[in-house]
Amino acid sequence: MRLVQLGWVCALLAAGCGGKGVSAVDAGGLGDTGPAVDAGAVGDAGAADAAAVDVPSADVSSADVPSADVPAQPVASPTWAEHVAPILYNTCVGCHRAGEIGPFPLVSYEDARNVAPLMRRVTAERSMPPTVVNATGACQNYRSDVRRLTDAEIATIGRWVEQGTPQGDPRRAPPLPPSPSGLTEADVRLDIGTTYMPNASRTDDYRCFIADPGITEDRYVTAFEVIPGEPRVVHHVIVYSLPNATAQQAAERQDAQDTTPGYECFGGPGVDGSMPLAIWAPGGVVTRFPRNTGLLANAGRKVVIQVHYNLAGGSLPDRTRVNLLTARAVTAQGFLVPYRPDRVELPPRMTEAVASDVLDLGNLQGLPQVFVYGVAPHMHTLGRTLRVDVLRNDERHCLVDVPRWDFHWQQIAFYDQPFTVRRGDRVSIRCSYDTTSRSAVTRWGEGTQDEMCLNYFYITPFRAPN
Ligand code: HEC
Repeated sequence: MRLVQLGWVCALLAAGCGGKGVSAVDAGGLGDTGPAVDAGAVGDAGAADAAAVDVPSADVSSADVPSADVPAQPVASPTWAEHVAPILYNTCVGCHRAGEIGPFPLVSYEDARNVAPLMRRVTAERSMPPTVVNATGACQNYRSDVRRLTDAEIATIGRWVEQGTPQGDPRRAPPLPPSPSGLTEADVRLDIGTTYMPNASRTDDYRCFIADPGITEDRYVTAFEVIPGEPRVVHHVIVYSLPNATAQQAAERQDAQDTTPGYECFGGPGVDGSMPLAIWAPGGVVTRFPRNTGLLANAGRKVVIQVHYNLAGGSLPDRTRVNLLTARAVTAQGFLVPYRPDRVELPPRMTEAVASDVLDLGNLQGLPQVFVYGVAPHMHTLGRTLRVDVLRNDERHCLVDVPRWDFHWQQIAFYDQPFTVRRGDRVSIRCSYDTTSRSAVTRWGEGTQDEMCLNYFYITPFRAPN
């Protein structure tokens, strides 16, 4: 059964309306296909209970996002100290500083000057910062932890380069933002259980490690952080739930069959029913789910930490850690609900092969509306663009737009305000691919040679108080 084809409302049914055990959320690949995401009874915790539960209290807008003053208008005669450094410190040095994944620092004046033309190009084409969702404001407004440059900032960098990269008075440069302190209040600390030497005979090594969070009662993950053991090789990390015994056994079987630590896995953990609990790309520090919401972590279950190692620069040993902040309850349970077209079947040798669908959400299983707080698009390596719209009467509301997909930069991007999806809405999804490198039809699947057209929505059945 592929409830996802009918839309993510069915997943919500499993969650909010039907209570325990309503079957079959087809997680469609990041989590594989399969039965029984037992999302539990969300409906219990209404807003009225807010005072009685231990809810996360961190303020997202101020968390982990350095804020230097950046002007709204492009500057006519920009200098590094006054105009360019603030942009780089806000948006780039999280990765482009010593010990982080960026291939060179962008901290000093010389750092910036040395790569100035390249910097102008990658910012103008919006390939840096590497945010895959269109966060320009044309399709939803995103929270401040989704990195983006404004048109004015891009123009300022461009002019600074054209005008010969003037330094200005270095005393006027802002202070370098401190390295963020991390999720110091985390209550679950996991690691991959070993020091793993990625397989250097390939460029990309996708590895799944089973870890035990030691959770003895159902808890809700409200924030997470990933601490790559070796930032130069860890390219992204996804933590998946193993929500039932069957899923856990399936993962343990693969682990046992693989002679090196963990097991090989590409698109997802390769077991049924598993769902992401955390999605992390480099430079991401602490990710907090929207206030008063969180994802269920089932009592007594292990999780899979999937690490994608990129070994273009050689292999180095790694021991990645993941920290979670959990709460006993939340006022509105969050769900990462997959949404995908019915069929993905891509002819070879095309510069633009397309998978698309329009799906009716039906009656929202009795709910008048659900709240979409964020998106996590997913395709494999042929993917180029992805877009999801809500169609309501004659209106079209964009929910996620990916103008230039990059498999290496996956993340959950949260809106600054939830979008309300109403009963009767229809939802369209369209993905495009470049299949010129293929000689046969490419279909939906987990493998490196398969494709996906998938977006996870982070939704709640109630609007969480914030
Ligand atoms: C999330 C981490 C991250 C952030 C944020 C980031 N970069 Fe990068 N950057 C990288 C990585 C990693 C590479 C190496 C190429 C790759 O893997 O995509 C890179 C490569 C580059 C390059 C070289 C591109 C090339 O074609 O060789 C430039 C220039 C650059 N970044 C500039 C910037 C600027 C300017 C910003 C801020 C506006 C920025 N980056 C923000 C991670 C980041």
